[in-house]
Amino acid sequence: MKKMLVLMVVAALVAGSAFVALADNGPAEISLSAKMGNIAFTHEKHQGIEADCTVCHHNGVEEPNCHSCHGGNADAPAAKKVFHKLCKDCHKEAGGNAPVKCKGCHVK
Ligand code: HEC
Ligand code: HEC
Ligand code: HEC
Ligand code: HEC
Repeated sequence: MKKMLVLMVVAALVAGSAFVALADNGPAEISLSAKMGNIAFTHEKHQGIEADCTVCHHNGVEEPNCHSCHGGNADAPAAKKVFHKLCKDCHKEAGGNAPVKCKGCHVK
């Protein structure tokens, strides 16, 4: 009985740390909202395309939310401007399935 309890505690700890590891990378899928049509951003897939988090999270991943500054802070340029630049520049360079047309990202 005691052994069983120890096993359960160990299992809970392992599950807990696995959860934390996932949480640090953020959600696998993120819906970015826009009147033009929301963008289904495959965050996890993009982490596979670009291994360096700071290419997008230029202030580091400790403050991962872009909108806390872009759109919320007068010193930071508008979200539309910086997202378009970041996302489209890489997509133009990448070619292939990376969308560059409005409706490739904005889906109504
Ligand atoms: C291609 C660009 C890109 C890459 C690469 C990327 N992210 Fe993100 N990440 C984003 C965007 C965009 C959001 C959405 C932020 C928002 O809604 O303001 C986001 C959101 C997050 C969030 C959730 C933020 C919140 O609001 O709760 C975390 C955590 C995060 N990223 C961590 C990481 C880590 C760790 C890596 C590297 C392993 C990484 N990201 C790589 C673009 C990227
Ligand atoms: C702590 C505030 C803060 C956070 C968080 C932040 N930014 Fe920024 N960002 C800024 C400021 C301020 C500038 C303008 C000054 C500069 O270039 O450093 C900027 C500039 C940029 C630029 C360059 C724009 C240009 O015209 O060259 C891009 C692209 C960008 N941010 C994208 C993002 C993305 C994507 C995220 C989230 C993954 C993010 N930022 C999170 C404050 C922030
Ligand atoms: C470092 C390069 C890079 C950056 C930065 C980047 N992408 Fe991508 N993206 C790609 C590539 C490469 C593909 C094509 C993947 C494939 O071939 O399946 C892609 C595909 C996509 C797709 C098509 C669906 C999918 O997931 O395959 C969407 C939508 C998308 N990106 C949105 C965004 C948004 C929004 C941003 C900015 C927040 C962004 N991307 C930033 C490289 C990038
Ligand atoms: C690579 C993906 C991508 C492409 C291509 C793209 N956008 Fe966007 N767009 C975004 C993202 C990401 C945002 C920021 C959403 C947010 O604030 O979270 C945005 C924001 C906007 C906004 C402001 C937000 C709103 O409420 O609509 C407008 C307007 C817009 N885009 C129009 C366009 C037009 C017009 C085109 C074609 C010429 C275009 N976009 C192409 C990803 C893209």
